[in-house]
Amino acid sequence: MKFDTPAQTNPIDKMAVVGRPVDRIDGPLKTTGTATYAYEHREAINPAYGWVIGSAIAKGTLRWLNLNEVKAAPGVIAVVTAQDAGPLGKAGRNTAKLLGGPEVDHYHQAIGVVVAETLEQARAAAALARVEYVRAGGQFDLVQALATASVVDDSGKPSAPEIVGTFDTAFAAAPVKLDAEYTTPDHSHAMMEPFASIAVWNNDELTVWTSNQMIDWGRGDLAKTLNMPKEKIRFLSPYIGGGFGGKLWLRVDAVLAALGAKAAGRAVKVTLPRPFMTNNSTHRPATRQRIRIGASLDGTITAIGHESGSGDLPGGGPETATAQTRLLYAGANRLTALRLAVLDLPEGNAMRAPGEAPGMMALEIAMDEMAEKLGMDPVAFRIKNDTQVDPAKPERRFSQRQLVRCLTEGAERFGWSRRNPKPGQARDGRWLTGMGVAAAFRNHLNGTSAARVHLDASGMVTVETDMTDIGTGSYTIIAQTAAETMGVPVEAVSVKLGSSDFPVSVGSGGQWGAASSTAGVYAACVKLREAIAQKLGFDPASALFEGGFVRSGNRSARLGEAAAQGRLTGEDKIEYGELGKTWQLSTFGAHFVEVGVDAYTGVTRIRRMLAVCAAGRIINPKSARSQVIGAMTMGVGSALMEELVVDKRFGFFVNHDLASYEVPVHADIPHQEVIFLDEADDKANPMKAKGVGELGLCGVGAAVANAIYNATGVRIRDYPLTPDKYL
Ligand code: MOS
Repeated sequence: MKFDTPAQTNPIDKMAVVGRPVDRIDGPLKTTGTATYAYEHREAINPAYGWVIGSAIAKGTLRWLNLNEVKAAPGVIAVVTAQDAGPLGKAGRNTAKLLGGPEVDHYHQAIGVVVAETLEQARAAAALARVEYVRAGGQFDLVQALATASVVDDSGKPSAPEIVGTFDTAFAAAPVKLDAEYTTPDHSHAMMEPFASIAVWNNDELTVWTSNQMIDWGRGDLAKTLNMPKEKIRFLSPYIGGGFGGKLWLRVDAVLAALGAKAAGRAVKVTLPRPFMTNNSTHRPATRQRIRIGASLDGTITAIGHESGSGDLPGGGPETATAQTRLLYAGANRLTALRLAVLDLPEGNAMRAPGEAPGMMALEIAMDEMAEKLGMDPVAFRIKNDTQVDPAKPERRFSQRQLVRCLTEGAERFGWSRRNPKPGQARDGRWLTGMGVAAAFRNHLNGTSAARVHLDASGMVTVETDMTDIGTGSYTIIAQTAAETMGVPVEAVSVKLGSSDFPVSVGSGGQWGAASSTAGVYAACVKLREAIAQKLGFDPASALFEGGFVRSGNRSARLGEAAAQGRLTGEDKIEYGELGKTWQLSTFGAHFVEVGVDAYTGVTRIRRMLAVCAAGRIINPKSARSQVIGAMTMGVGSALMEELVVDKRFGFFVNHDLASYEVPVHADIPHQEVIFLDEADDKANPMKAKGVGELGLCGVGAAVANAIYNATGVRIRDYPLTPDKYL
């Protein structure tokens, strides 16, 4: 199904199942421990255990000194390093090699795996390994590295600043202006389930149970790495304990499980211990962002400039923190630029809402600062500078943009009028209290997504697609989509996900998963409806699918009758035409936060939070709400505590576990409310839905920062906003 004209009325519009707060299908499986995660699959018989060895230096070369002794240790079956793995291919999506040696590209880059009968034997043998390192000098200091960094485009290719109008003169001439620098630190995904894989070979065929957001990418990159045909790999991730972008890519657990299994001649399980994950895998890069805003006295933005610098390993890409500034506010004169420095820290890459998440942390403090300079309410200042068109291409309109309604409804619901605009005035015992607001913005991305749907004689519908559920609710919203389209109750739908045996979906990332994967399932269901109608002699165009029956006029037949002689199958994919180029597809929201800051210690406590989201049709308000409250929680983490601390002498992240890399817990988040505006975006896809999970994060950090400013009168532009910065 090609989607290239706005969606017409279709079976989803009935909203009998779609749009309802259906409970998570996988909920009972997860809460009873029966959902099988990557390290738990029992189909692999008698697995051996791999323990990964990581480089102890950040840059240089290595030489193994006693591999034979390691191999002779109790229980050891095999040891695999780069010198005996044979030449490995380069998977395009990884910047650094997954298996290092003799050259080392970053600290804790994997340099080998020890395979043994038990995990303890593998770990003990790995501890015996002695490696001679020759350290080379590396660049680990972002500030230093940015001094000579050049401008790149979003993909990291040399470029020039993007300018609309004449930024410099307009900014210079503005009667009210702000020029400030904001910094965000490196962030860790810190997902609950570690990286883990089990690999087993059957002759030249490889099966890998793993934890990966993108089945087809992972399978393809594993095939490239192992120099084998993709078709010979089964790549399986039915349940995933979170990813946040850290599991978008093939990681070393899958590669070393496969290489270890080959060397051992049996199934091998590899997981990465928590303290190894942070430096071995990817992270959200730190940014230094300069924002300049100029406005006329009535609060009209006349110039807006946003430059962001970040670093990555050679060949890597920038954190695209200026993405939202191109689109969020009006202003005739504009400048955005990304600078990319070369660093020798572990690989920087996508983490939840890459670009907008750290970009909004800066831009939305800047908007608060400008509102204050103008003597305007920060809600009113944002509304004043709303735009319904892409400011750089006025002929390109937003398909839907209800930022203003998000802000006004949010202000009303939150009791914004009770906020004292003068900071440092409100007090509750020892707590200084304050309120803050930020806009939310995240682009919506469409992607090709395929599915297969079977009908059996009992009337049961089975959906197969390689879409993943990373804790987001994919199983449930896909079941709702199939139930709605086929006119059956949601209990009559069985959903199978996360296997390379199934048609290739859009996968989970960039908040694109929900809308495009369900659109692909919808397309396959339309094919199945046609097959059923044809089989039972109905006109496919006019037949109604309802209550497990097909009807037309006064004729009706039970759906299952069409499959009496064998199951019927519909298979199709959603593909997108030019519509997304004609219209700007984005999601909007507003975040409101109230904090208390301890007047004596500087500790901030969140008191309550509200998010109002406008993101197209909400397929399941319960799972969407869960996505947004999780995102808001992550936003509090980015505001108050999350920071990977760089050891600039040796080049690694020091706080590499959940004891020292702090994320919010329940006690940190007393009250969250989420409101979805009633929308259906016919330019987005047949579901008329967009993404919401990352939108829920974008802006939260700044709303917290602005609330702290309102409480204390102290403006900190350097995240996280820890108590020491207020004393
Ligand atoms: Mo996305 S960066 O996979 O949450």
